Amino acid sequence: MFDGIGRRFEYLRLSLTDVCNFRCTYCLPDGYKKPCSRPTELSADEVRRIVTAFARLGLWKVRLTGGEPTLRRDFDEIARTVANVPGIRRVAMTTNGYRLAEKAAAWRAAGISAINVSVDSLDPARFAEITGHDRLRQVLAGIDAAQAAGFDSIKLNAVLMRGINDRELEAMVDFVSSRDLSLRFIEVMRTNDNAEFFAERHVTGQSVIDRLQALGWSRLPRQAGAGPAVEFGHEHAKGRIGIIAPYSKDFCSSCNRLRVSSLGKLHLCLFGDAGINLRPLLQNDGAGDELIERIRKLTATKAPAHRLHQGNSGATPHLASIGG
Ligand code: GTP
Ligand code: 5AD
Ligand code: SF4
Repeated sequence: MFDGIGRRFEYLRLSLTDVCNFRCTYCLPDGYKKPCSRPTELSADEVRRIVTAFARLGLWKVRLTGGEPTLRRDFDEIARTVANVPGIRRVAMTTNGYRLAEKAAAWRAAGISAINVSVDSLDPARFAEITGHDRLRQVLAGIDAAQAAGFDSIKLNAVLMRGINDRELEAMVDFVSSRDLSLRFIEVMRTNDNAEFFAERHVTGQSVIDRLQALGWSRLPRQAGAGPAVEFGHEHAKGRIGIIAPYSKDFCSSCNRLRVSSLGKLHLCLFGDAGINLRPLLQNDGAGDELIERIRKLTATKAPAHRLHQGNSGATPHLASIGG
């Protein structure tokens, strides 16, 4: 499926819940605030219907996100459901790693083949400061468990923040140099809730690239169908490094993803739209053709790029509400 400017979509990011048990300074510093009446998240059947529709439109990769998707009690069942949808060749997940050590093997067995784990610091005290949880040791044990469980791809996500963890860049690079892992440095993005934090802590992707190049890392050729991350390698390193720099020029021109929130809203972009409710079309298997037509028409209208450069994060309060 293509949008109006010819970008091709093969990848759905499906959020299973807004809820998160961490309180990362750049995302949910005050923790997840429970609304008085919490709306019901998509059921496993609704998930199956939405994923089936996207698969019929040619998408073959689904990433389960949140909030923290593994807080759903039926997470394993949903993973199996998604993995069994005809046409879906890759099920990935993004997690804070809280339960990874105990669950890695079960998630792999449920059909998940790629996993991204947030690791914003390798220093236990700083990790606790950033996330609100003194869990670094368990998260690192989780990464070992994921490697033992045989995932095809394991990526670590680090948001670099000025004066908080930006001096750890070299230590993080060392960490992946000797391991078959990919590490991604992510520019902090401005959302409606974090404007002040963003102004104080934002580190540009270019400055990260300059530091990597000074350490002997060089840019790898772009793979066909690759998303917005720019990848770097080093002749003596086992791992790879990716940079996700949404403030860089032309970042959105390689956008290959669409998003659905845990309430069944289609988000054409991480920023700038309030989401379009698809849930009424998810209530029975019979509405499949209408659902597909709706998604196709909406996708054609996707904006060419976000407007973060103009300080506009649209309707996005924080990325936990839309699945990052
Ligand atoms: P893979 O390429 O499938 O590994 O996906 P990914 O790198 O997009 O996965 P992940 O969920 O680990 O994304 C990490 C973070 O990168 C997200 O939480 C966002 O902060 C950021 N990100 C990912 N995709 C986009 C995007 O399309 N636009 C913007 N602005 N940021 C993104
Ligand atoms: N800016 C950049 N990345 C963010 N994430 C959440 N909020 C932000 C933000 N404001 C991303 C981080 C984290 C993932 C789950 O969500 O990459 O690892
Ligand atoms: Fe795609 Fe929007 Fe992300 Fe740009 S900001 S890469 S258009 S989701």
